[in-house]
Amino acid sequence: WPRSAKRENGVLHVGGVDVRELAERFGTPLFVYDEEDVRARAREYAAAFHDGEVHYAGKAFLCTAVARWLHEEGLGLDVCSGGELAVALAAGFPVERITFHGNNKSLAELEKALDAGVGRIVVDSFEEIARLGYLAQERGVRPKVMVRVTTGVEAHTHEFIATAHDDQKFGFSRSSGAALEAVRRVLALSQLELVGLHSHIGSQIFDTDGFEVAAHRLAELLVKIRDEHGLELPELDLGGGYGIAYVPGDEPHDPKAIADSLREIVGRECRAYGLAMPRLTVEPGRAIVGPGGVTLYQVGTVKDVEGLRTYVSVDGGMSDNIRTALYGAEYTCVLASRESDAAPMLSRLVGKHCESGDIVVRDLWLPKDLSVGDLVAVAATGAYCRSMASNYNYVPRPAVVAVRDGEARVIVRRETDEDLLRLDAEVGV
Ligand code: LLP
Repeated sequence: WPRSAKRENGVLHVGGVDVRELAERFGTPLFVYDEEDVRARAREYAAAFHDGEVHYAGKAFLCTAVARWLHEEGLGLDVCSGGELAVALAAGFPVERITFHGNNKSLAELEKALDAGVGRIVVDSFEEIARLGYLAQERGVRPKVMVRVTTGVEAHTHEFIATAHDDQKFGFSRSSGAALEAVRRVLALSQLELVGLHSHIGSQIFDTDGFEVAAHRLAELLVKIRDEHGLELPELDLGGGYGIAYVPGDEPHDPKAIADSLREIVGRECRAYGLAMPRLTVEPGRAIVGPGGVTLYQVGTVKDVEGLRTYVSVDGGMSDNIRTALYGAEYTCVLASRESDAAPMLSRLVGKHCESGDIVVRDLWLPKDLSVGDLVAVAATGAYCRSMASNYNYVPRPAVVAVRDGEARVIVRRETDEDLLRLDAEVGV
């Protein structure tokens, strides 16, 4: 839950605002972000990595307001598409503090990044190195480049969000020698300035061992690069992936502990090989915006499936939160608009989409007197919910509201049927 979440007269309040008032004013489903919670987490990461850089991974959730908050709190930004870059630029985000990622950036995206002058481009394939070399030469610019390395770490998380084992699409593998070959090819192009290595091992990770193994293997590569090219790369980007609490038992990392352990491992390795300590960058996304976001839904139907459980249907579902269907994600959900001392009933929180897999929370206990019109709140939906939202079944995507000090304001407005129809090229024909 956001740090400001509390009950007043039984009603959930976030950022000092009553959730019934939020639902009334802005409608449901509604994404509610506790602005101070997001800012505080950003500050904590920035303080923990005071001698390095923290780049917020915009894929977790990006809009111009969030980009500005995080810039104000001292963070840089990681974008992975031309669209995310466009939002960052629209927010006036300082372009030199933006890193551009992606395993298949289009020519148009690379051109946009070069023309804007983004701070770092993380190259992910041999084709891309050649493309970037060509485009940079054509423009007479010399972008700073990092090489994304697949360190071979098996992160303990869902298969779809683990990214450093060898059998997947990202990066250049360390074990096959592709990473060192990528370094050679970048160095062969004088219009590209190689500044460092990048690695992202996966997401929603609690176990620090994976980060430690990755940091160790990257440091070894830095030594090989020094020995082969006489060049000490000044930067090391260790990606994001720090887990947050969705359900009891999830033990999130303390940013300071992460920073200390990464600094210690890289430092030890560098001392052993006589390398200067590179500047460390990390790219947390979920850990910055995840806990501060809550989704409010209104209950529409309560269906008792005899002897099994009660299906509680809400007014959103897999179009605003695909994570349960896609990763088997777990969430915490409570009755928010009032308190109840009724006995708990085994429930399943489901959406309004035409799929039986349209589940928001698979198993939860809700009070037996739950009824139509009640509001429920799902915690920790600030990351990868609105950003992965779809218009499946032509359901408009929910609004996003920021709350702070008893005030609420829309930062992304709700879609309307007109928004949905706008793309239909033959409407009214
Ligand atoms: N850096 C890179 C290069 C990444 O690919 C990612 C996430 C991050 C940083 C940020 O990771 P975070 O700190 O947020 O874990 N949709 C999935 C997560 C996919 C993450 C993809 N890359 C989910 O909902 O769990």
